[in-house]
Amino acid sequence: MLYSFNTYHKLMIDKAEQSVSRMKDLVARDPMRMKYHFMAPAYWLNDPNGLIHFRGEYHLFYQHHPYSAQWGAMHWGHAVSKDLVHWKHLPIALAPSESYDLHERGGCFSGCAVDHDGVLTLFYTGSVIRDGKVVQTQCIATSHDGISFEKYVGNPVISESPQGSARDFRDPKVWRHEDKWYMVVGSSKDGKGRALLYRSSDLYVWEYFNVLAESDGSMGTMWECPDVFPIGDRFVLMFSPMGMDDRQTVYLTGQLDYETGQFISESCGHVDYGFDFYAPQSFEDGKGRRIIIGWLNSWNWMPWFISHGPTSSNHWCGAMSIPRTVVMGKHGRLKFQPVEELTVLRDDHYHVDRMVVADMEQVLPIEGVGLEIIAVFRLADCDAVEFGIKMRVSENGQEETVLSYLHSTGELQFDRNCSDNWSQGIRKCKLARSDNDQLKLHIFVDTCVVEVFANDGYAAMSNNIYPNPDHKGLKIYSRGGKIVLESLDIWKLKSSWD
Ligand code: FRU
Repeated sequence: MLYSFNTYHKLMIDKAEQSVSRMKDLVARDPMRMKYHFMAPAYWLNDPNGLIHFRGEYHLFYQHHPYSAQWGAMHWGHAVSKDLVHWKHLPIALAPSESYDLHERGGCFSGCAVDHDGVLTLFYTGSVIRDGKVVQTQCIATSHDGISFEKYVGNPVISESPQGSARDFRDPKVWRHEDKWYMVVGSSKDGKGRALLYRSSDLYVWEYFNVLAESDGSMGTMWECPDVFPIGDRFVLMFSPMGMDDRQTVYLTGQLDYETGQFISESCGHVDYGFDFYAPQSFEDGKGRRIIIGWLNSWNWMPWFISHGPTSSNHWCGAMSIPRTVVMGKHGRLKFQPVEELTVLRDDHYHVDRMVVADMEQVLPIEGVGLEIIAVFRLADCDAVEFGIKMRVSENGQEETVLSYLHSTGELQFDRNCSDNWSQGIRKCKLARSDNDQLKLHIFVDTCVVEVFANDGYAAMSNNIYPNPDHKGLKIYSRGGKIVLESLDIWKLKSSWD
C-alpha cells in the first residue's frame, strides 16, 4: 500500500503507542521501578536525545524500543518537565517508517534538538542495513506544537559519511555559532574513533568541514554521541568511545578553532567513573546552565549473549541519570553536580554534627530506597585503612552495597559484589586531595541505582544495583582505625512519579 508522506509515520507511532499502553499499568506496579529517576512508561530505553529547554519546558527524548524490554528498532520516546524532576510522558515522537530508517536492527538512532525560529527541529540518524551493510544517514523532523513531528521530505540531509570515514556515522549534535550552524557526528577510521564537523547556513544543506578530533589509538574504535559545548573560555568535546577497556564516557577540554574546524585538546577526563553511565547529552537551559543527562544501564557481556539486568523480566529496562550541571574546575578539569531542583524531593531529615567512627560499623537510624546523603569526612588525622557507607543493607546484613575510601591509595571504591544476586564488580577512581583535606560525598540512592558525586563533583560514579526493595538499611563504617565524620545529612526522598 502507498501512503502519502508522513501518514505511515503516524501509523507506526500509533501502533507503538498502543503497545506501550497495553503494558504500562502492569509496569507501574513493579516494586523495582525507580522512585525519582526517569524511565520509559514500559519496555526499553537507551540514550537521551534531543535535550532542549523549549518554550519554558524541558524536553527529553530518548532511544526507545516500544515492543520489548530489549534493544530493537529504535523509536524516540518523549517527555517534558517544568523542573527537571517531575516528568510527564508525551506520545512517541519518532518511529521508523521510511526507507532510510525502517529496519528491525536499525531505526531512528540518537540525535539532538534545536529551536529554529520557534520550530522544534530534531536531528537524528536513520540507520538501516542494506545488502548486509550498515547505512547511516543524518535526517530531520520538525514540530510546530512540540508534540507531533513530521519527517523532512528531503531526508536524508547528509546521505553518507565523508570519504575516508567508516560507514558508522551517527548521533548528530547541532549548535549555532555566529551566523552558521555546526554539527558534530560520531564516526571511525581504520578502527580509531573520530568526530566529524559539518556546517550549514540554513540547517538543511550541510557541507563537510573537517575531522574535528580523532583517537590516537588509545581512545576507542568508534566515538558514539559526540557533543561539543563551551564552558568559560574553553570548549568541551564529550563522547562515548566504543572499544575501550571499560564502557565509559570521556571528555576533552581545549579550544575549538572555527577557522580550521579542529578541536585542540588540552586535557582529558572521565565524565563518570561508574559501570553504568553512557551516551550523555548536554544542553543549555534558560538559566544559562550547561546540563547533562546520561543513560544508566548495566549490561553484562556473556560469551553468548548480552544481559541487561533483572528488570527486563518485568517488561522495562533502562533509566536516565539525574540531571547534572557541568562547570569548569581547576586545571581544566570539569565538575559534575546534581541540579539544585532535586532538593524539592527532600523529606524526613537526619543530621549529625561530629562523630568519630573507630574501627566499627554503625547502623544509622534512617533508612530507605530513595535517599540523598551528604557526608563530610576529615582526612587530616584519619588512621583508618578504609571507611565509608554501606547502602541498601538487608536485615541479615548479607546484602549490601559498599562505597569506601581507601586511605593509603586515596581511591574511592564502589563494590557491588554483595548488592544482590545479579550485580557484580568493583569500580575505583583516584581522588585528588582537596585543599581543605576533607572528603565530601554526595550520594543519590534509588531502587536500582546509586549515583555518587565526590569532592563537589570532580568525580562522579554511577552504578546500577538490583537489591530487593525491602533492603533499605544504611551503615557508616571504618576499618583498621578511626575517621572523623564532620557532618552527615540524610534525607528520605519523595517519589517524583506520584
Ligand atoms: C549509543 C548508541 C548510539 C546509537 C544508539 C542506538 O548507546 O549506540 O551510537 O545512535 O545507541 O540506539
